[in-house]
Amino acid sequence: MPHTPFRDSAMPDAVSDAAARAAGEPATELTSAPAVAPARFRAPMVSFVQRSTRLKDRQQRTWDELAPRFVIEPPRVVSKTSVQPEFLFDAAATFGRQAPLVVEIGSGQGEAVAHAAEQRPDTDFLAVEVYTQGVAQTLQRIRQRDLTNIRIVQANAVEVLTTMLPAACADELWLFFPDPWHKSKHTKRRIVTPSFMDLPARVLRPGGVWRLATDWADYARQMREVIGADERFTADLHAPRFEGRVLTSFERKGLDKDRDIADITAVLSAGV
Ligand SMILES: C[S@@+](CC[C@H](N)C(=O)[O-])C[C@H]1O[C@@H](n2cnc3c(N)ncnc32)[C@H](O)[C@@H]1O
Repeated sequence: MPHTPFRDSAMPDAVSDAAARAAGEPATELTSAPAVAPARFRAPMVSFVQRSTRLKDRQQRTWDELAPRFVIEPPRVVSKTSVQPEFLFDAAATFGRQAPLVVEIGSGQGEAVAHAAEQRPDTDFLAVEVYTQGVAQTLQRIRQRDLTNIRIVQANAVEVLTTMLPAACADELWLFFPDPWHKSKHTKRRIVTPSFMDLPARVLRPGGVWRLATDWADYARQMREVIGADERFTADLHAPRFEGRVLTSFERKGLDKDRDIADITAVLSAGV
């Protein structure tokens, strides 16, 4: 997985301000009326790197065939991982039914989401991933398992959670093995920070569950500190392994290095 510093260089003010708040940065002040202001761009900190990717021929064929059905293509603002703030995801219309919704942030190669979608056919899954190879591999898993209850959006999860998802739409939110940004000069890129907490609180329904896992001890410490301090959630900061979480190749790498795996769950209280 990419671990190189990157700034998403083209994000207009409305979106970037929301993303900036979630990234713990001050939002931009508009200096004139939005209707007449020239387009101004700033670059909030993001939790990922973006690389140009060339898909293999087989992946490209799968993409061409399956993406129209399984990849949500929101209108973009400028960068290819942005989401126009007016775009709203309608799960019932997309899946053609009313069903519980699980949203996975940073779904990687789609191992966890594809496994869960197969195990839970009565639940719908939205995988959020910026990495083109990851989206392509998720599409291949969808094909191999003949799944119908997954959609993927290739976008910055901060924007997806800030504007694309309706409030209180998700029954579960998953964040498994987010990039640890282990060098001290990069830890500010970690996605779980106090200012990020408004986003799970926004998209989960009351009683909804946020599930997290990490193999990086210092990130586990940070997650426990941040989530444990948020009174909107009732947290189990040393939760048992979530049985619905399949062993991914990323987790396998952590285990091979003798790292401890930390599971955390946080239930959103009613009336927040
Ligand atoms: C370390 S990998 C873990 C992947 C997967 N969850 C697993 O357990 O194997 C983290 C993933 O999160 C993605 N990611 C990081 N920041 C993201 C963001 N803001 N929005 C969407 N995806 C993001 C990365 O591209 C990467 O695929």
